[in-house]
Amino acid sequence: MTTNEIRTKFLEYMKDKGHAIVPSASLVPENDPTTLFTGSGMQPMLRYFLGEQHPLGKRVADSQKCFRSQDIEEVGDNRHTTFFEMLGNWSFGDYFKEEQIKWMWDFLIDELNLNPKNFYTTCFKGNNALGIPRDTFSADLWQKLFAEKGLDVTIGENPEVDGMKEGQHIFYYDESKNWWSRSGKPGGMPEGEPGGPDTEMFYDFDPDLSKQIHAKSKWSSEVCHVNCDCGRFMEIGNNVFMQYKKTANGFAELPQMNVDHGSGLERYAAALRNDPDMLAIDVFDEPRKTIEELSGKNYGANEDETYAFRVILDHLRAATFLIGDGILPGNKDQMYYVRRLIRRAVRFGNKLGINESFTKRVADSYIETYKKEYKVLEEKKDLILSEMEKEESKFRLTLEKGIKEFEKIATKDISGIDAFNLLQSYGFPIELTEELAAERGIKVDRSSFDEAKKKHAEESRTASAGKFKGGLGGDGEIETKYHTATHLLHEALRQVLGEHVLQKGSNITSERLRFDFSFDRKMTDDEKKKVEDIINDVIKQDLPVHREEVTYEEARERGAIGVFDEKYGEKVSIYTVGEPGKRGTAKLFSMEFCGGPHVNSTGELAVGGIHPPDSSQGDKPYRHFVIQKEEAVSAGVRRIKAVLE
Ligand code: ALA
Repeated sequence: MTTNEIRTKFLEYMKDKGHAIVPSASLVPENDPTTLFTGSGMQPMLRYFLGEQHPLGKRVADSQKCFRSQDIEEVGDNRHTTFFEMLGNWSFGDYFKEEQIKWMWDFLIDELNLNPKNFYTTCFKGNNALGIPRDTFSADLWQKLFAEKGLDVTIGENPEVDGMKEGQHIFYYDESKNWWSRSGKPGGMPEGEPGGPDTEMFYDFDPDLSKQIHAKSKWSSEVCHVNCDCGRFMEIGNNVFMQYKKTANGFAELPQMNVDHGSGLERYAAALRNDPDMLAIDVFDEPRKTIEELSGKNYGANEDETYAFRVILDHLRAATFLIGDGILPGNKDQMYYVRRLIRRAVRFGNKLGINESFTKRVADSYIETYKKEYKVLEEKKDLILSEMEKEESKFRLTLEKGIKEFEKIATKDISGIDAFNLLQSYGFPIELTEELAAERGIKVDRSSFDEAKKKHAEESRTASAGKFKGGLGGDGEIETKYHTATHLLHEALRQVLGEHVLQKGSNITSERLRFDFSFDRKMTDDEKKKVEDIINDVIKQDLPVHREEVTYEEARERGAIGVFDEKYGEKVSIYTVGEPGKRGTAKLFSMEFCGGPHVNSTGELAVGGIHPPDSSQGDKPYRHFVIQKEEAVSAGVRRIKAVLE
């Protein structure tokens, strides 16, 4: 069965069980400032666990694109990838453990025909201090399902100490293994976060120990158990019983019992091939062949080269999907990861002897592989290929020189200044310098690097503030008005077109403002009018504009928009229009990271003064902010030119 067929089969199965099938959400979370990427299927569903009604009902399923940036450095072994698809189904206060476990068994064993002898599960052992009981219901039910297939399996305890005994297929673990929430284990969950015990599903790649996976691994001196890292067992899926919410005094039951199931699509595919190499499954076939052709090397021929193959395969798949979701390579937030992925792939390409432009050819193979299921890839094909090529050639230009420079300084540990120069002059992300250093067994002074970078950022910020202020002599006042108008426009666009609209660029003169934003089609006249109306209304209301200095975390937590390349704990400046508070409160209109300057209140944008709503304007509608033009800049980016009159 191909990976695409497994996906379809799962979705059809869940549809048959009464689930509404929804498309994958974007890799960039839409209303969730707490995280840069969608890393699990449940993230876009969070609010429905807390009681909000999903428009399509209480049963929903999908295959969600996921990106886990924290795994970048793990990639290269046979199982880690940064991008993957998570098959998921959810019960929002509808069915619970019994249905979920039976369906999982039915799907894996009867539909996908996995051999139950290769199948293992784990359940939560319970914790009195947390007030959460042992999940005997799940363990007993799994045992019964094994028995129905004629397998009398037993339930084990403390496998991490005692190992696994003959016949044990179900194990109890504590919350370090069998608990799931977006923010991890019970102790790390913030108040209000939902979570719960889970029952995980594993596939055994070496049931008779003939492959000697554990014995040949670096864990061979320790006992092997399902959660051992040796590679014999692979977790293929997880059923979370989202039943609790963290409060100031421990855990409280949520108003409804939820199920959050997520399984790794690619892991299912590996289990079905009975081969633990996840990078050997069919979705990588075409891209792998492309790399083989370009390099003249064969996947699997030797360890170092296979490692390089896997890094390229993973990183370029992730970058293809990320660009497809509108994230271009750059220096900030999500964009930085796309840059890092492409640059890392290029470097590992060099290790395979590929010295020509190649990332777009691999990306093209991925687009071919996935285009039926992910139409966005086909639609954004030109953008994806051109961005790959641009980023690759930018990096190639300096890579060789940078490596030479690196070799010169790598005779001893690398200072922060030297690492910063590699970044400034050769575009070497600090992680690349660290990796190259690790390969040679030397260190990089990360904290002095961070200091050098911060100092540089402060200097350039001061310089640009100076430049802006310089422009404020005379006509500067008008520019300040346009600057505030830009904030109003940003917020109004998000209200009318959706919260996924993000600022891509802005330019102000004393004549007009220009604002670029991510959006993938022409705005309708009606939408433009709505945006104008919202802004003119805010001008008419003469809302106060405030500047506040807060920590980066507070700004994010309150919902400030805009990109800001700051470290946690640092103070940042935000500007609010309306009454300062949290995003979503009635009296706050806009809140953005910004260094200013701005007007004191929105009424100042009314050229010639604000007219009270009842003033005699004849039939001329009250209108100060006018959109003059709305046009495309590049794929997925629109530009508005607007004036204050
Ligand atoms: N949300 C659960 C996980 O990611 C299913 O493991």
